[in-house]
Amino acid sequence: MATLIDGKKIAQEIKEELKEKINSLKQEGKSIPGLVTILVGDSPASQLYVNSKSKSCIEIGMHSKIEKLSSNISDSELLDLIEQYNHDNNYHGILVQLPLPNHINEQKVIESIDFKKDVDGFHPVNVGKLVTGNNSFYPCTPYGIVELLKRYKIPTSGRHVVVVGRSNIVGKPVANILVQKKEGANAIVTVCHSAVKDISQFTKSADILIAAIGKPNFINSGMVKEGVVIIDVGINRIEDTTCSKGYRIVGDVDFASVKDKASFITPVPGGVGLMTIAMLLKNTYQAYLNFQSGN
Ligand code: GUN
Repeated sequence: MATLIDGKKIAQEIKEELKEKINSLKQEGKSIPGLVTILVGDSPASQLYVNSKSKSCIEIGMHSKIEKLSSNISDSELLDLIEQYNHDNNYHGILVQLPLPNHINEQKVIESIDFKKDVDGFHPVNVGKLVTGNNSFYPCTPYGIVELLKRYKIPTSGRHVVVVGRSNIVGKPVANILVQKKEGANAIVTVCHSAVKDISQFTKSADILIAAIGKPNFINSGMVKEGVVIIDVGINRIEDTTCSKGYRIVGDVDFASVKDKASFITPVPGGVGLMTIAMLLKNTYQAYLNFQSGN
């Protein structure tokens, strides 16, 4: 049986580390980091995410505010609100929960956030810095993945990482982080996507497999080699009448099928998912430090 990579435990450790740092700021009478999250519309999933981001800020002693806007707000109203927070020194991080309603130009919104407050790491300036190996905010899920590999002392240098999925939020950034000539990276990276005819051909040679395609139980034991490290980013609902909710959450990897072949694996839930918020808090704390030092 593979060693479980305990995202819940590591996320908690990171939150404790940050809480101590924020406590010290308070004791020294300094200002504290703040995050504003902007939610447009009333998608239950987005509401849940935003609430849990805000709650996590409060838990570690940061301040946090949720701006809830109606789904029929105009582009310019949203852009005006973002501009207001770009200049508000009490908030060091600004997060606009995605997806936005169809009538709003998502890219324009992302680009309107001051890149120094872009704790999601989605602004083109931060994307460009990431690709060129300069200090930037890493998008939170990829950042969580590299942090898990680091804290479990799983080497990446010279190893073959296969990323399945090329989203802007996970696949592309994690591939670009791991290919950098840096500690905790320096990997040989292959990105598989919907145009790849035989994904197995690539996944079978992975030392580390990162699955981020949003297809339940897509990866099975026939697609991986003995000893592979599996990072499962999927969060998929599948119908299950034996559960009280009528569904359960599974990853992109068929856990039961691969668990005896892999050396390490992230469970779903309890793996990568919880790391995303912990890294958002870390980015917000970093944005605060940058602001304090005039960067
Ligand atoms: N929607 C799903 N994941 C994310 C994320 O990491 N950040 C934002 N802003 N929206 C999301």
